[in-house]
Amino acid sequence: MRKLLITGANGQLGNELQMILSAGKASIGPIDPAWARCEVVPTDVAELDITNAEAVMDFVRAGEFDAIINCAAATNVDGCETKPDFARVLNADAPANLARAAAAVGATLVQVSTDYVLAGTDPMPQTEEAPTAPVTVYGSTKLAGERAVEELCPRHFTLRTAWLYGTRGKNFVRTMVGLGRTHDSITVVCDQHGSPTFAGDLAYEVLALLGTEAYGLYHCTANGATTWDVFARRIMADAGLDCEVKPVTTAEWNADATRPLWSILDNKHLRDTIGDSMRSWDVALDEFMRDNLASL
Ligand SMILES: NC(=O)c1ccc[n+]([C@@H]2O[C@H](COP(=O)([O-])OP(=O)(O)OC[C@H]3O[C@@H](n4cnc5c(N)ncnc54)[C@H](OP(=O)(O)O)[C@@H]3O)[C@@H](O)[C@H]2O)c1
Repeated sequence: MRKLLITGANGQLGNELQMILSAGKASIGPIDPAWARCEVVPTDVAELDITNAEAVMDFVRAGEFDAIINCAAATNVDGCETKPDFARVLNADAPANLARAAAAVGATLVQVSTDYVLAGTDPMPQTEEAPTAPVTVYGSTKLAGERAVEELCPRHFTLRTAWLYGTRGKNFVRTMVGLGRTHDSITVVCDQHGSPTFAGDLAYEVLALLGTEAYGLYHCTANGATTWDVFARRIMADAGLDCEVKPVTTAEWNADATRPLWSILDNKHLRDTIGDSMRSWDVALDEFMRDNLASL
């Protein structure tokens, strides 16, 4: 039986991964039976602090894992600006720890990255060949993490995603539902473009890739693109909430970190290898809202 280590398992992606592994299927479809029957070892910082290189090496050696999926990261973009050392240790040094350990035992490593490694100024959907040019601490530390994994662990998959939401944890969907229940109107940024991505769909693609040896870098977001305010209006409509969403520009909005205006990724490498099964952002959102509204 295969053995799978999940780090950062209590986060959005880690949680969805555990759910589809135990169900044997995701919203997109059934998962690879070899992974559905595998032994899963979910860990978060209490069980395995991935910033501790020695602990990571010991844990991975003792566990005899076939694969490691790293779902842990410093994901608070503004928080990374104010705590750059913390961001570097978790987003860059920790993936290096995992990559060294995975390589030492011949395990495959999945690293998850972000559209923030790109400059975010090009309106065209960006393939994996697009030049990287991060403008935030979050983006530059995540790019360093990508590079460490590429350099240290030949058997790796790096999936860049964006605008992630799931059933657990803090995310835009949950925030909008909360605001919609308590406000008649809210303002939401209208000039940033991206693809809201359900973490369960990303988890499906992670496991689909893990069944192959097509190692490398992949863009993996929902298909289609929108803006935060249109996304917010769809959430309000799906939730049956009568809350007006008023548009505001990025310039008018006051955030610590620069936000990319254009975050549209093209899942080209997926299409060219296993096929792109990611759903349209609105189709995935509508189903997510139907299934989870009561717990949001
Ligand atoms: N969220 C997005 O919109 C988004 C967009 C693009 C890419 N991504 C990438 O997608 C991946 C998954 O994101 P996510 O939203 O699922 O993340 P998340 O919900 O923030 O979960 C991260 C998890 O890692 C844990 N963690 C923190 N420090 C750790 C440590 N030292 N050792 C082990 N675990 C630790 C966190 O615990 P605590 O909560 O206790 O800190 C949390 O449970 C990340 O690589 C992220 O960069 C996310």
